[in-house]
Amino acid sequence: MNFRFAILSDPHIALPTTILNHSNRFHLVEVSIPALKIVLDHLITLNLDFLLIAGDLTQDGEPENHRWLADCLATLPFPVYVVPGNHDVLSLTATENQIGLADFPFYYQQFGYSHPEQIYYQKEILPGVQLIGLNSNQFDEQGKQIGSLDAEQLHWLKQTLPALKNDLVMVMIHHNVIEHLPGQSNHELGKRYMLANAVELLDILEENGVKLLITGHLHVQDLAFSRGIYEITTGSLVSYPHPYRVLEYCENTVELAIESFHLQNIPGWENLPAISRQWLSDRSYPFMMRLLTCHPLNLPVSLAEELAPKLGNFWADVAKGDTIFDFNDFPPLVRRYFYAFSAIDPLGNPHFIDNQAVISFKHQFTYQHSDLLVELRE
Ligand SMILES: [Fe+2]
Ligand SMILES: [Fe+2]
Repeated sequence: MNFRFAILSDPHIALPTTILNHSNRFHLVEVSIPALKIVLDHLITLNLDFLLIAGDLTQDGEPENHRWLADCLATLPFPVYVVPGNHDVLSLTATENQIGLADFPFYYQQFGYSHPEQIYYQKEILPGVQLIGLNSNQFDEQGKQIGSLDAEQLHWLKQTLPALKNDLVMVMIHHNVIEHLPGQSNHELGKRYMLANAVELLDILEENGVKLLITGHLHVQDLAFSRGIYEITTGSLVSYPHPYRVLEYCENTVELAIESFHLQNIPGWENLPAISRQWLSDRSYPFMMRLLTCHPLNLPVSLAEELAPKLGNFWADVAKGDTIFDFNDFPPLVRRYFYAFSAIDPLGNPHFIDNQAVISFKHQFTYQHSDLLVELRE
């Protein structure tokens, strides 16, 4: 069947009474509630079949923020499905100010978790259309958060997916499963956005013919492809460029058309994109220094200090998607490294698919950043 749906991610809802002030906070949570309201006001005009929210629903797992969001979503005229992000469940058990992992589904029983004793789900959301919602938040013995899938969910997927092989299956999970940045799985800065056991999940999805992953967490607009599977990652509503997506699936052509929108003005935050772009730029210097001095560039600090100021808008432009990075005054190897972050196909030609694209499930294109980086280095 044909259908239309929307994706938003990382709304990081924070009621004013819960907003904490950290000077280096990357998320503009002050706009979280007005931003979501403006987006939802738009979405209710579009005759949607459903809305997906790919985690980091709240600032830091506060019960009042989860409650506010669940109440807000309950007023919408279309079904909504959510999964938990690392900011939604900061610990296994509840603390005074934060819910525990097992509490999450009870807040979202209307939004995927009709069996709230379980933190993952499978649901036929339209005839022949299946949604799998997974939990990528695990905790080690010391209680430290890790982004991975536990053995229980892997086993459940192996049991569940074979019966769905004639349906269109979408898998939603907060952490990235396919790389969206060059060398993301092994990079000191990038790997925490990846699912630790992504390859294991990809093996299961590939074996069962699943073709579509929906993720968040990275706060970047990007479309990636690997092993016959597309991963759509959507940027955060509280960081530049404040995007959300509307998608239309056409059964006849077996195509999914993706259109992205970006919030422009919020009362009190006129010209929001300029403010939030500057916000990222103001906070990016230490990250750019690390990117330049750590593997694989390993530049000396003196050279990194010379280049880092020229990279002030680099992360904002990565987040926006569809950017070509050509720092022609950088040393050749460094220039090539940053070029690999561009919106280019494996041959190095511009390929702008991060915001507006048509995915064909019949004629796939191959597009993987890691392959590209290897090619560029040769
Ligand atoms: Fe987030
Ligand atoms: Fe996250």
